[in-house]
This record gives sequence, structure tokens and C-alpha cells, in this order.
Amino acid sequence: MGPITVRDVDESNLEDVFRVCSHGKLDDPLQQKGIELRRSWLRRMLRDNGSCAKIAYLDGAPVAQLLFYTEGSAPFIPRPRRGVVLLRCVYNPFKEAQGKGASTALLRSLVEECRGDPQYLKGVRCRFIASEAFNTGEGTPMEKFYASNGFVKKNGEMVLLINGEYAPPVKLEPHPNESDKGQAIVIYNPTCEYSYPSAMRARDLLNSIYPELTVKLIDQWEDPADSVRLGNHWLTVKGAQIISGWYERESMLREVAKAVEKGVQR
Ligand SMILES: CC(C)(COP(=O)(O)OP(=O)(O)OC[C@H]1O[C@@H](n2cnc3c(N)ncnc32)[C@H](O)[C@@H]1OP(=O)(O)O)[C@@H](O)C(=O)NCCC(=O)NCCS
Repeated sequence: MGPITVRDVDESNLEDVFRVCSHGKLDDPLQQKGIELRRSWLRRMLRDNGSCAKIAYLDGAPVAQLLFYTEGSAPFIPRPRRGVVLLRCVYNPFKEAQGKGASTALLRSLVEECRGDPQYLKGVRCRFIASEAFNTGEGTPMEKFYASNGFVKKNGEMVLLINGEYAPPVKLEPHPNESDKGQAIVIYNPTCEYSYPSAMRARDLLNSIYPELTVKLIDQWEDPADSVRLGNHWLTVKGAQIISGWYERESMLREVAKAVEKGVQR
């Protein structure tokens, strides 16, 4: 096995993020739109906060990536927890490169950095790293990977203490307004190039079933107030949060049907 190296993402290796995360999808026009959004977001984060992503290279080829930012840098989190680093995802899509320590090396690099004084913490000591471990059904689930690297589950997030004590996240209540109650709203974010394409697919699916339903898309980083009003929840239909995720198609559509029906009767 060749050597594994870890590099912070900067302008010189920024495209490697997409070579990992969009591996096999680089020619898809919808994915390209997601990539474009993420490229701009990465550049803005690098400029304003410093590092926010890392790439692992195996024999010089990019094979895994890790994305993170402080809770304080996310505009859609009211009353952010000080000194908390949000680990957003880790991903190694290459079967032949899995199980060789690439993602472990990425995680170790972040943990080591958080024990020190990285630029993105802006002089604040890191209390803990918190991650929302979603499961796409691909590879090893993130929750299992984090658990085997010392993270423990608290309040639905996976947590690794660094220099402080755990504090739960602020729970947001949705406050849909009158116009929210007449339409469906899909929230996407520019931090993952799959998010915008998924939001578009959700919109197309809803439009095909409910041609009369207006479906609006919101960029969580560009329109944080709208996102907060909807509890930062990915899909709200006629004021009702759809709890099932995009990958739980059947139960999601059942919830949507209920929300549309209820909204019509109101
Ligand atoms: C979880 C995931 C990131 C792991 O990636 P990986 O590069 O294969 O991870 P590693 O090789 O570092 O570790 C995997 C296993 O190999 C072991 N391993 C093998 N050789 C190793 C070495 N030299 N050094 C460290 N660990 C090694 C690790 O201990 C680990 O075992 P564990 O699962 O029992 O803890 C990958 O499976 C993945 O991408 N899963 C999907 C996650 C996802 O959905 N991401 C979001 C996509 S948008």
C-alpha cells in the first residue's frame, strides 16, 4: 500500500473535492450546478474563515474528503455554541481505496488541529466536535465510522470532546408564515454538491404528483432567515414538516399527501 497524505483544501487543490465527491458524476449537468454552488461556497469560506475541508491522497490520488466548519460560521444557526466544530461529512467513494486508513487520517488531522489553535476557531478554544451522521446507504455508515473513532451519541449528534464539556444544540421550532402554508419549500445547502440536485429532484417529483402545488427552493446559506423560520428542515409542505428523508421515498410521499390534503381542507 502506498502512502496516505492529508492536505487542507485551498485554491490549488479545490477541484480534488469534486474528483472525490462527484466521482462518476462530473459530466451530469445538474451535478455541475451543485458543484458550481459548492465551489463558490468553499472559496467564500476559505477567504472568510480559513480551512473547511481536507482531502486524503493515496499514492498521490485524491480518495477521501472531510468537510467541517464552526457552528458560529453558519448563518442559519441562531445562538451558535461557542468553540464547537461541526463535522459535516466524511466520504471515500472508491472501493479499492476503502479500509486503508484514508478517512481515519482525515479525522485524526481534524482532531489534532482542534486541540491547537486553528485559524477557523478565531482564537476560541475548541470545546468539542459534533457531527450529524446521516446515512446514504453507501459504504460504512458515518455513525459507525465516528463511533469507532471515539465519538459518542448525544442528542442525535455524534460528539468528540476536545477541550470542554458538551452542550446540546439549540432546538429550533418552525414558525411557518401564511405564504409557507400555501406552498412546498425545499431547503438545500451549497456545502454538498448533491444537495441542490436533490432539491431539484424533489421539486420535480412534487410537481409531477401535484401540478397545482408551488414548490420553492431556498439556499440555507443565502437565505438563512427563511431557513430558520422553517426550523432548518429540509422539506415543508403547506406548513407541515415532512419528517421522512429523500431516501425514504414511500413514507415521504405519504407524509406529503397528508400535508397537501390537510392544507386543502383548511
Ligand atoms: C466511512 C468511510 C468514510 C470510511 O472511509 P475509509 O477511507 O474506508 O476509512 P478508513 O480506511 O480510514 O477506515 C475504515 C476501516 O478500515 C480500518 N483500517 C484499515 N487500515 C487502516 C489503516 N492503515 N489505518 C487506519 N485504519 C485502517 C479502520 O480501522 C476502519 O475500521 P472500522 O470501520 O472497524 O473502524 C466510507 O466507508 C464512506 O464514505 N462511507 C459513506 C459515508 C457517507 O455516506 N458519506 C457522505 C457521502 S455524501
